[in-house]
Amino acid sequence: MNDSKTWSGRFNEPVSELVKKYTGSIDFDKRLAKWDIQGSLAHAEMLEQAGVLSAADVAAIQQGMAEILSDIENGRIEWSLDLEDVHMNIEKRLTDKIGDAGKRLHTGRSRNDQVATDIRLWLRDEISQIRLLIQSLQLALVELAEANADVVMPGFTHLQVAQPVSFGHHMLAYVEMLGRDDERMADCRKRVNRMPLGAAALAGTTYPIRREVTAELLGFEQICQNSLDAVSDRDFAIEFTAAASLLMVHLSRLSEELILWMSPRFGFIDIADRFCTGSSIMPQKKNPDVPELVRGKSGRVIGHLTGLIMLMKSQPLAYNKDNQEDKEPLFDTVDTLIDTLRIYTDMMRGVSVKPENMRAAVMQGFATATDLADYLVKKGMPFRDSHEVVAKAVRHADDQGVDLSDLPLAVLQSFSDLVDEDVYLVLTPEGSLNARNHLGGTAPEQVLQQAARWKKQLLESLQN
Ligand code: ARG
Repeated sequence: MNDSKTWSGRFNEPVSELVKKYTGSIDFDKRLAKWDIQGSLAHAEMLEQAGVLSAADVAAIQQGMAEILSDIENGRIEWSLDLEDVHMNIEKRLTDKIGDAGKRLHTGRSRNDQVATDIRLWLRDEISQIRLLIQSLQLALVELAEANADVVMPGFTHLQVAQPVSFGHHMLAYVEMLGRDDERMADCRKRVNRMPLGAAALAGTTYPIRREVTAELLGFEQICQNSLDAVSDRDFAIEFTAAASLLMVHLSRLSEELILWMSPRFGFIDIADRFCTGSSIMPQKKNPDVPELVRGKSGRVIGHLTGLIMLMKSQPLAYNKDNQEDKEPLFDTVDTLIDTLRIYTDMMRGVSVKPENMRAAVMQGFATATDLADYLVKKGMPFRDSHEVVAKAVRHADDQGVDLSDLPLAVLQSFSDLVDEDVYLVLTPEGSLNARNHLGGTAPEQVLQQAARWKKQLLESLQN
């Protein structure tokens, strides 16, 4: 008989070494130790209030747990695979320290509600940190936008030059995306922050537990209302990973742009050397490794989402051991997100902008063609006709190898007699930008207003 396991009483032979390794989770769930202890302390206190545990037992549990916590913090703990997971490791250690009181801790609960509680306690803390990191990155982008509100760059559709936009406006587009990511995190946190404890194995418990007390002690906003659901669903983890995936997708888009913009073919920006590497063979190279890795890591996080959602699919109620597989993808998602957000904020502060190159690129793609069409419309021409007229003018300029603004007045007038001297005001990229002066438009004035709005909001939130 294997007497090292807390559940071994029923078995005739010990599990094989391979099975022990295969089913054990201590190698990774030891990361939850701090939250496991937090949950146990609240559970013990509730049991005391409910008259299930004596004050002396609870005092011993508190003393023992404090020692274990300090052992963990000082690296003085040896985790044992024989004890399978973090819950049994801690319980055994507690019992070694304080005797029978340690054995009474598990009254009225199960590892099933315990583990679900631990993950939620841990994840809600991580989400709070992730939110601050998202907001810090937003702030870095807002400041870059503010400093470059009147820098003109080509806006693209189909990666073809479309219309001039402000570089600041482009940065603020990502601030908006990240703002929704932050909202999603906040919203998801509400559903993470619900307490499964009290569901026990699956059906609840016969002890007179008081779940409101435990929830209050642990700062849970709500209590899971059905014991079967409480121990079995991991939708909160899936939801978090989905929000994380979207965030990574947004950063993969920005990364792709940074990579393109840093290429000499674009030459729109430079990224500080500390975020790049050279080539072992080509001396001229400076590679944008950090954005490339972010782009790559977005696939990794999306993979975790796929893994978790498949993990849940078709599982019968209630708890199944499958759910032990929720931890590694979750941990890796959190770690990837935190590292990525930190490095990204730092990197965006190290981006230098090359306005001359951006402007030169605007001048190469007839980016103000729409402005010319709008100009003719304002002088009375129907839009469909002006579209046709401008298309002809563009073809002519293209044949000559010049921009629309380089065509002499007489030539422009040969396409429409509505054209006047004032046409050159709208044909410049700056004129084009300034003309889009409405909420959500790219005019520098709007960009500055949006930047100011975000900055106020972000600073307030980060200071709290
Ligand atoms: N290590 C387990 C997990 O992560 C804890 C719950 C075990 N419960 C059980 N009935 N075997 O899910």
